[in-house]
Amino acid sequence: METIEAIKTRRCVREYTDDPVSDEQLDLMIEAARWAPSGLNNQPWRFMKITDRELISKLSQLTRYRGLIARAPALIAVFLDHSEMYDRTKDVQSVGAAIQNMLLAAHDAGLGACWVGEILNRRREVEELLRVSSDLELMAVVTVGHPVERERAGVRHPFEQFIISPP
Ligand SMILES: Cc1cc2nc3c(=O)[nH]c(=O)nc-3n(C[C@H](O)[C@H](O)[C@H](O)COP(=O)(O)O)c2cc1C
Repeated sequence: METIEAIKTRRCVREYTDDPVSDEQLDLMIEAARWAPSGLNNQPWRFMKITDRELISKLSQLTRYRGLIARAPALIAVFLDHSEMYDRTKDVQSVGAAIQNMLLAAHDAGLGACWVGEILNRRREVEELLRVSSDLELMAVVTVGHPVERERAGVRHPFEQFIISPP
């Protein structure tokens, strides 16, 4: 898939078939994330692959999007590693770039994924449930599955709205 086509046709996919997502497919997404840019190339991201149904069910209780999480065959929890940080803004931006790479890789592979940020409202409970080291701060949970719907038009404001004139 052409890069620009992938960027423009990627959608947040929230409905999945019952087909499982393989470990190799999750690794492909994480591999794409690993190649994201980061300030000073510090690569401050960490990833946890989650396919255990009981754990997914417990995580689903910690967000308003419980149906979305509970329906997903797999999740990737994304963390910022404080032991690798040098500048909070830039490090968080780097993790965002890594997440976008994951979403694009999923789309390219015919998978559907959704970036779930709302679960950060209960970040501490998620970190406790996942028993991660105190250095790791949850940044997002990404749902992954085989999409029920294939093509859905995206919605964006008009191009001109985003352009600011120079002085
Ligand atoms: C930082 C961030 C947080 C998000 N959190 C959620 C979320 O909690 N639940 C959800 O269903 N979608 C979430 N999304 C997905 C957005 O709703 C989605 O990207 C947006 O509506 C545009 O749709 P599209 O990605 O299909 O083009 C999030 C996206 C981003 C970038």
